[in-house]
Amino acid sequence: MDRFDFSHLLPRQVKRRRFLSGIGVLTGLAIASQWPTRVVARPRFSGYPFSLGVASGDPLPDGVVLWTRLAPDPLNGGGMPDVNVPVRWQIAADESMRQVVKVGTVMTTPDLAHSVHVEVHGLKPGRWYWYQFRVGNEVSPIGRTRTAPGLHEHVEELKFAFASCQDWQNGYYPAYRHMALEDIDLVVHLGDYIYEYGPETGGPRQHNSPEIVTLADYRNRYALYKTDPNLQAAHSAFPWIVTWDDHEVDNNYANLIPEDDQSQEDFSRRRTNAYQAYYEHMPLRRSSLPNGPNLLLYRRFTFGNLAEFNVLDTRQYRTDQPCGDGLKARCTEAFDPGATMTGSEQEEWLLEGLDKSQAQWNVIAQQTIMAEYDFNPSPSVDVFNLDQWDGYVAARDRFLGFLAQRQPVNPVVITGDIHSSWVHDLKVDFNDPSSQTVGTEFVGTSITSDFPAQFIAPVTAALSDNPHTKFFDGAFRGYVRCNLNRDRWQTDFRVVSTILDQDADISTLASFVVEDGQPGAQRV
Ligand SMILES: [Fe+2]
Repeated sequence: MDRFDFSHLLPRQVKRRRFLSGIGVLTGLAIASQWPTRVVARPRFSGYPFSLGVASGDPLPDGVVLWTRLAPDPLNGGGMPDVNVPVRWQIAADESMRQVVKVGTVMTTPDLAHSVHVEVHGLKPGRWYWYQFRVGNEVSPIGRTRTAPGLHEHVEELKFAFASCQDWQNGYYPAYRHMALEDIDLVVHLGDYIYEYGPETGGPRQHNSPEIVTLADYRNRYALYKTDPNLQAAHSAFPWIVTWDDHEVDNNYANLIPEDDQSQEDFSRRRTNAYQAYYEHMPLRRSSLPNGPNLLLYRRFTFGNLAEFNVLDTRQYRTDQPCGDGLKARCTEAFDPGATMTGSEQEEWLLEGLDKSQAQWNVIAQQTIMAEYDFNPSPSVDVFNLDQWDGYVAARDRFLGFLAQRQPVNPVVITGDIHSSWVHDLKVDFNDPSSQTVGTEFVGTSITSDFPAQFIAPVTAALSDNPHTKFFDGAFRGYVRCNLNRDRWQTDFRVVSTILDQDADISTLASFVVEDGQPGAQRV
């Protein structure tokens, strides 16, 4: 197969198939009797309604979430009439959708931007499925997904990729084009799925509105990103587990504190809009349905006895960045025991989960760098990024102290945010190189977002002052591929040659392994 042949994944021209006969065609009358609001079962669309592709996510042993959104005019509010519209879905055990195992109808509403979130149950654990939607006479592309293995099942291997930070304006998504062709079971997205900024010149493509604030703004921004064919290909190839960082709302926000001057009331309204649009565009379960400015996103996924993912939300419950935020020396606020990244409830949930876990690898999927990193190469001057865990020292000490004391098996932290690749040993005391290593951290570079070239030299120069940091690269964009078995975890930093070309090549920049029972990474 041609390296760039996606015909088994996408495009609708090739893959539009008729739904199997015998599923039955809904009439407007039948539907209208079930839902009180006005329903149009056979709407006419101004354009192809599945313009944003399909996705699946939150895999459990017996099912996944299937996602799409009806948007015939995606960049202008979606282009749907202000009525409820039923969407048929089906899921099959084969790629050609012949062995259909489940079908159903879901009602889409204007309230949720005609988004579809189907929670399928009754599937078999640890296997591939294919799915498709239909509305009126239109059918969606076929997506592929995979259930998690059985809860206590013995699992030999898990392969996944993680990614973050896909600023539309900074480049194209050749990384997703390659990710879609990887032999993996799962994708984890660690946030900055969109950026909130207005249009900027100089990049290969531009945002479609000024800085986003309203619900309509956020919806149009998600739609813009989701029109990208490579992003759609990666969604339609694997189930995704998603979490957010700051740019899904506002740069470096913390809880209800915005980056810029905005009243708390205005920012609360903005967060409500942003969280709702996030839910509408992600394959999330009903448990993540937003409630005003709140959305429950931290959650856990188990892959048999091999791996457990603790997916964190370090923005919604965070205390404000200390010392005025930024890259600077720490003030006393950075050591405040009340300062938190996760909030106390999520912290308790995390520690409890790690304590009870039966998994061979315990993954903490989160946003900003957890390891200490002193950005100043001089041993006598310390400069930290206070938006990272370096601004929340007591909270980090609690977590790393817990790892030292309770020793959950093989903890591995995976991180996004900083648009560059890093490997860290997580130490009980970062100032003492001989102190215990209690975990490993892999930080993935961005899909596109910028790591300013002028930062590369100073960060590299500071490596000698941070001996627990095993690797840093700021030059390349891409994603991280991980292969886990009972004995070892391998991480491959997959990078594209450029983000200015949709067809850019990919290669492996560096690989590291963690051996079972030995926290810390070794380069291979
Ligand atoms: Fe980012």
